[in-house]
Amino acid sequence: MTSLSSATSLVRSDSALRTTVKRMTTAPASSATGRPAPLKTRITEMLGIDYPIVQAPMGWIARAQLASAVSNAGGLGIIETSSGELDTVRNEIIKMRELTDKPFGVNIAQLFVRDPSIVQFVVDQGVKFVTTSAGDPTKYTAQLKDAGLTVFHVVPTLASALKAVAAGVDGLVVEGGEGGGFKNPRDVSTMVLVALIASKVDVPIVAAGGICDGRSMAAGFALGAHAVQMGTRMVSAAESPVNDNWKNAIIAAAETDTVFLNRFSRPGLRALRTERTNRLEHADHVDMSEFGTATDLYFGGDMESSIALTGQVAGRIESVRPVAEILHETIREFRAVAGEFAQYA
Ligand SMILES: Cc1cc2nc3c(=O)[nH]c(=O)nc-3n(C[C@H](O)[C@H](O)[C@H](O)COP(=O)(O)O)c2cc1C
Repeated sequence: MTSLSSATSLVRSDSALRTTVKRMTTAPASSATGRPAPLKTRITEMLGIDYPIVQAPMGWIARAQLASAVSNAGGLGIIETSSGELDTVRNEIIKMRELTDKPFGVNIAQLFVRDPSIVQFVVDQGVKFVTTSAGDPTKYTAQLKDAGLTVFHVVPTLASALKAVAAGVDGLVVEGGEGGGFKNPRDVSTMVLVALIASKVDVPIVAAGGICDGRSMAAGFALGAHAVQMGTRMVSAAESPVNDNWKNAIIAAAETDTVFLNRFSRPGLRALRTERTNRLEHADHVDMSEFGTATDLYFGGDMESSIALTGQVAGRIESVRPVAEILHETIREFRAVAGEFAQYA
């Protein structure tokens, strides 16, 4: 009979093996060069971008360095406000305008809004596109739309999608439970959620959760999406400002190396498996004080000092690569996969 300690060591060696296999199969850098032709969808037309790829908003991370790289590469960069550091965010938006003349957006993560004038703050920045998330779509949509912004709301269920459409949003970000970040504790996979919602609404859809390349983007489109959003892939991009320890942990991670915290409490969240989150996985309730000072992990690289929001797709990410390479290779691979599908038509 296998003892507990030898079972544990089996698990450890299996995960070490996975890391080796992942490293061995790391894809070479894109051999094709040049910028792919634009790919038109309802969302690229609506937002004035070349490719239907949106960079996820992420507290402290989704700032000008990363977002301008995405917008310049032809996708849509998004600036976060979930850090609550609105003075810094204002400066990041000014920086953004110095670094790119392409469109970009801002996110309002309602759960983290401390400043009641957040809508006016976003309107004052002169951005044209906003995603609202982690909250009630009836709260800000009318005010944002009256100010002339295009509004997409992030939804984790069909009921919230229908509520957002009734509130007048221009589109939805449909986010499956495999994605990194804060989640509905009753999580539903991207595979089920995007197809379900796409069959019930007419507004354009951005699929999020588990997308890192052209094949997963094509899957999102097959389910009914018109664009995709990448979070974990962008945390681990070369232009992401996070410490290399986090990027390397994503590269080393197997697909099983994330945990879902607060499954029976709120707010649910998906994060990288570390000693700290492994322990918290079994807690009835994880208090937000467990985040400690998030920036000690994000920028200091102490992986046990906080919680590293990360999605299951970490198991598919094999190297740190520049944003332009990621986006352009995604579009090339998407077209190749669409070509493969054509034989079945
Ligand atoms: C580090 C991190 C921080 C995040 N912060 C936010 C946020 O501030 N607002 C938000 O709407 N979503 C946030 N998310 C969720 C992402 O927007 C995105 O939908 C999700 O990462 C997609 O799944 P993926 O990680 O599989 O790509 C965050 C995700 C990560 C990984």
